[in-house]
Amino acid sequence: MKILTDSGFDNSKIVEFGNKYLTGNGYLGCRGTLDEFKKTECVGINVAGVYDGVAGKWRENINAFNPLYLALFCGESALDARGENVLSHEVSLDLYSGIFTRKTVFGVGEAEVTLISSRFLSSAHRTQICSRTCISANADLQLLLKVAVDPDVWELNGPHYKGVNCECGENFMRVSARTQEADIPVSVECRYSTPINAVSSDFSGEINLSLYAGETFTLDRVANVVVGGDSPVWQSYDEALGEHLAAWRAMWDKCGVETEGDERADFALAYSIYHLLILAPKGEYSIAARGLSGQTYKGAVFWDTEIFMLPFYLATLPECAKNLVEYRIKTLPEAVKKAEHYGYGGAFYAWESQNGADACTDFNVTDVFTHRPVRTYFKDKQVHISADVAYAVLLYYSRTGDDELMLGGGLETVLMCAEFGRTYSYYNHIKKRYEILDVIGPDEYHERVNNNAFTNYAFYKIATEGVACAERLKNKFPREYAAIIARLPENIVENLRGWAEKLYLPAPNKDGVIEQFDGYFSLEDISVDGVRARLVNPREYWGGSGGVATATRVIKQADVIMIFNLFPDLFPLGIQRANYEFYEKYTEHGSSLSRCSYALTACRTGKSAGAYADFLSSAEIDLNGGGKQWAGEVYIGGTHPAASGGAWLTAVTGFGGLSFEGSVPKVSPRLPENIKGMRFKAYDGKNYRDFSVTQGEKK
Ligand code: BGC
Repeated sequence: MKILTDSGFDNSKIVEFGNKYLTGNGYLGCRGTLDEFKKTECVGINVAGVYDGVAGKWRENINAFNPLYLALFCGESALDARGENVLSHEVSLDLYSGIFTRKTVFGVGEAEVTLISSRFLSSAHRTQICSRTCISANADLQLLLKVAVDPDVWELNGPHYKGVNCECGENFMRVSARTQEADIPVSVECRYSTPINAVSSDFSGEINLSLYAGETFTLDRVANVVVGGDSPVWQSYDEALGEHLAAWRAMWDKCGVETEGDERADFALAYSIYHLLILAPKGEYSIAARGLSGQTYKGAVFWDTEIFMLPFYLATLPECAKNLVEYRIKTLPEAVKKAEHYGYGGAFYAWESQNGADACTDFNVTDVFTHRPVRTYFKDKQVHISADVAYAVLLYYSRTGDDELMLGGGLETVLMCAEFGRTYSYYNHIKKRYEILDVIGPDEYHERVNNNAFTNYAFYKIATEGVACAERLKNKFPREYAAIIARLPENIVENLRGWAEKLYLPAPNKDGVIEQFDGYFSLEDISVDGVRARLVNPREYWGGSGGVATATRVIKQADVIMIFNLFPDLFPLGIQRANYEFYEKYTEHGSSLSRCSYALTACRTGKSAGAYADFLSSAEIDLNGGGKQWAGEVYIGGTHPAASGGAWLTAVTGFGGLSFEGSVPKVSPRLPENIKGMRFKAYDGKNYRDFSVTQGEKK
């Protein structure tokens, strides 16, 4: 059993707990807020893959109407966790079943009223939200319960609904509307196990409750969030619970990692896996950078999914990995259009993708001094996204051997991503090599740099592996291959082969360090703290044209290190270690993707203490309310699923040392001192294999 709990109510933690106690089913997310909360407390029923934009504002994914609103009254007084009559309050989240429970005891005169409310988002039926509320008292009392499907939705860039219509019957309440932009119908209907009286003035339903001492009143609510052509599934709470629990058991059976000797690490790892499970996609959409915790980052999909999360799903729930890869294959036409728009060939994926459409704006930052929008170039120049997408397709294929997927768009995606790199590059006639100029690497504080090592190596690898893959498929499926190639730019395979041979790959210097980009070594040599001390305003943006880090060696996140994480065999461990030692001290870890990236290289290079510390800080980020939550008036917080994926990667591939040669697994454990042993399963493309590693040996 693994249960997360917090006791006592703290008003200042409402937003943090919304993330910490998030529940989800891969399609819907429900923030860990309480029944009586409304949009001011950032209640959110977040929907994956459904976006809406309002003129002049950022397009973002939608939050649906909240079917879980419930407020309890005794006479004039509200029995509310924020009130003064609270005797005790506790929230809990069962990591093995995805069930969130709150228990609050209120004092009403001499009497005590206990409210226990549990909820889950069905893992068996993606539209379903279920809740059971139990109310009891130690004296006879007359209570009033108000329930609603709350039409007043918390939104960052709304309003996203038009024509909101509320209906109410004896046992149900329904709110329906259409999204502003694409006119998508959204309706949330909740059915109640006890009849309700509709109150039209505040659109709620009331239940008058005569509660006798020692008796428990139970209200079950089963709701469906129906978007577009989805079909609702109506079941009793108990039936729904049974199916939900069976689905969670099946997931944990495949995904669980047991560690021995270190309870803190064990719990944090289970919590990370929990977050990945509540995001496991149930359809052809992908995972947003803040998961299902809200609309931050516009609900868009970044490289976070392919590089930090996909490996988990590939090793545990391969059908979800397939969904993620198919999302990119399906959105290839948008990427081709984007490349064309900038005058290049191939496929340039959106840095921030909303069903393939580019969500990234030209001005992603506002200057804190002038309040003017700052031109940022993530959209135009973070070209490594195409290499990341191709890497993911190749990784999926090497593990699963799924020829059908490769022939059905996978090969095309890989080759077109490489083709984009080729057409984006420039031939240096003096040095007789191709160079990739004017890009942003993973470190976003240095924009528009030349020959970012990560970008060059990533394109090199996907081009060479893409060409090798094309050759294999040509021999195996000549007819299908010919049809694919006929659709692609002429001589694409030959061109890529020739290009990769001449692509500039920055070599390690005499100290073994690879320069992050041309001229990086000449930047000011100052520590992260030194740069931080120069901030005039704590909310200043460190990068861009005039940021405090721009002219220095201080970087936002792991960059060169990512070469070794993606391609561990490219460089000997000595080189990897030298780069870890050199770059770590300049890294601010201003992105939640950073610590786990260093942890992975630390594992390979024998830096066990560093690996363990960075693992914990990734795994615990949402337990501790880590990461930035607000930027001025704008909420930028949410959960950090890439860090959860990175924590799993560190545990299983770092500490456990699991690696695959194609689909053949091997383990070479590098357990940190206090983790004595570890057991996990991993899918090798055909079967699940059991692994057990202990300090100093492997089985
Ligand atoms: C990071 C990116 C990341 C994005 C979404 C940014 O702060 O620099 O690497 O993809 O957040 O998590």
